[in-house]
Amino acid sequence: MGTLKLENIRKSFGSVDVLKGIDLDVKDGELVVFVGPSGCGKSTLLRIIAGLEDATSGEVLIDGEAAGHIPPAKRGIAMVFQTYALYPHLTVRDNMGLGLKQAKMPADEITTRVGKASAMLSLDDYLARRPAELSGGQRQRVAIGRALVREPKLFLFDEPLSNLDAALRVNTRLEIARLHRELSATMIYVTHDQVEAMTLADKIVVLNNGRIEQIGAPMELYNSPANLFVAGFIGSPKMNFVDAARLKHDRFGQDGVKTIGVRPEHITVDPKAGTWQGSVMHVEHLGADTNLYLDSKEAGLITIRIFGEYRTEPGALLYATPDPAKTYRFDAAGQVMA
Ligand SMILES: Nc1ncnc2c1ncn2[C@@H]1O[C@H](COP(=O)(O)OP(=O)(O)OP(=O)(O)O)[C@@H](O)[C@H]1O
Ligand SMILES: [Mg+2]
Repeated sequence: MGTLKLENIRKSFGSVDVLKGIDLDVKDGELVVFVGPSGCGKSTLLRIIAGLEDATSGEVLIDGEAAGHIPPAKRGIAMVFQTYALYPHLTVRDNMGLGLKQAKMPADEITTRVGKASAMLSLDDYLARRPAELSGGQRQRVAIGRALVREPKLFLFDEPLSNLDAALRVNTRLEIARLHRELSATMIYVTHDQVEAMTLADKIVVLNNGRIEQIGAPMELYNSPANLFVAGFIGSPKMNFVDAARLKHDRFGQDGVKTIGVRPEHITVDPKAGTWQGSVMHVEHLGADTNLYLDSKEAGLITIRIFGEYRTEPGALLYATPDPAKTYRFDAAGQVMA
């Protein structure tokens, strides 16, 4: 079993309130991703769950048991950090087994566990090497292996892939997804990467300024953001926001509506007719898609994402038409309106 419950977790460093009341339920086997801007408290929350940091108030429950008095090593939690901090003088095998050896586990059990982890992580050929003889991706896999061998109830990952290059990130992301499936382990995963969050998570927790803005399945957050913050944070390129006052004479502007939101992928362009006319500021050809930045009189600067290649030049006049079924309306407090 590996369930986690956070009850009204608060954390202050001196007079600075970093976490302002976090409540969360993680079910056994779930992969929960924390996202949020830099400094919003993601790592602090992980460290509190792991027992490396004490909460100022509130309760961490692991498998229903209050963990406040349980030291980190006894919580059944393994944490994988952004910097993998392997011992340079130890082989891969010994790096992976060190924690177990320190816990006085019998040598044959250590060998079995390290063998199992190295097979899962395709590290069999590297067991005798030292960290300096490995690529960044291989080192990160060793760091994951070190967590795996402990067979924890709960895995905590703090941006484990952010030091890897793009191709390795993809591979290692798939690897983590596979591990999660095979182990049915409970995992909490912090990332800045939209794609990692959307593809790995059963459930995403959007944190901002020490509070939870919204919790939901990836497509729930994408389709039904609760507020401006989540709407702007989930999705890339980010959602366009237009001050509704600018659109007074437009069918989108309505009483009580402060902001209209529409995602770049929900706007079509046409050279002859449409809702908002504007001139092309900049074009980005991504291969599979084209991003257009259109400076429009009514709506200001808007981003449009077009599937495939779209040929146009800066200065060209185009009309943009948002899909009315896929626009969002927000009130003055930034909350989404029905
Ligand atoms: N030991 C500490 N003493 C004082 N302030 C701290 C301490 N640890 C963290 N903080 C502050 O708490 C806030 C949250 O930090 P935290 O590391 O949890 O953010 P984060 O969401 O993980 O950010 P990032 O995405 O940049 O890793 C920051 O403003 C940070 O400066
Ligand atoms: Mg952090």
